[in-house]
Amino acid sequence: MITIHVTDLEGTVHEMLAPTDMGFNVMEAIRANELPIKATCGGMAMCATCNCIVKSDHELPAMSEDEEAMLDEAFVLDVEGSRLMCQIPVTDTIDGLQIQMGELTGD
Ligand code: FES
Repeated sequence: MITIHVTDLEGTVHEMLAPTDMGFNVMEAIRANELPIKATCGGMAMCATCNCIVKSDHELPAMSEDEEAMLDEAFVLDVEGSRLMCQIPVTDTIDGLQIQMGELTGD
């Protein structure tokens, strides 16, 4: 298990536990912890409704072309640290990750 610190759209910080042995990505871990998130495409890097801003300086996997293209498309996503949560695997290397849920994740 690792811990991910998630700030929701109201500014509340949730200390979320996520298993590293289930092949989850961060979006799925958020769903498993019953925090609200749209994630409309179900993790295909096709909707951007799982966007977040990464606040800590963890080394994350490089962005795929699909993720980059999706983040380029929307003006609100063009900010430092912007990523798609469904493209970040839950592994030991992201233990302690701090993310702010992006505005597209809510209604
Ligand atoms: S869930 Fe659609 S891009 Fe991540």
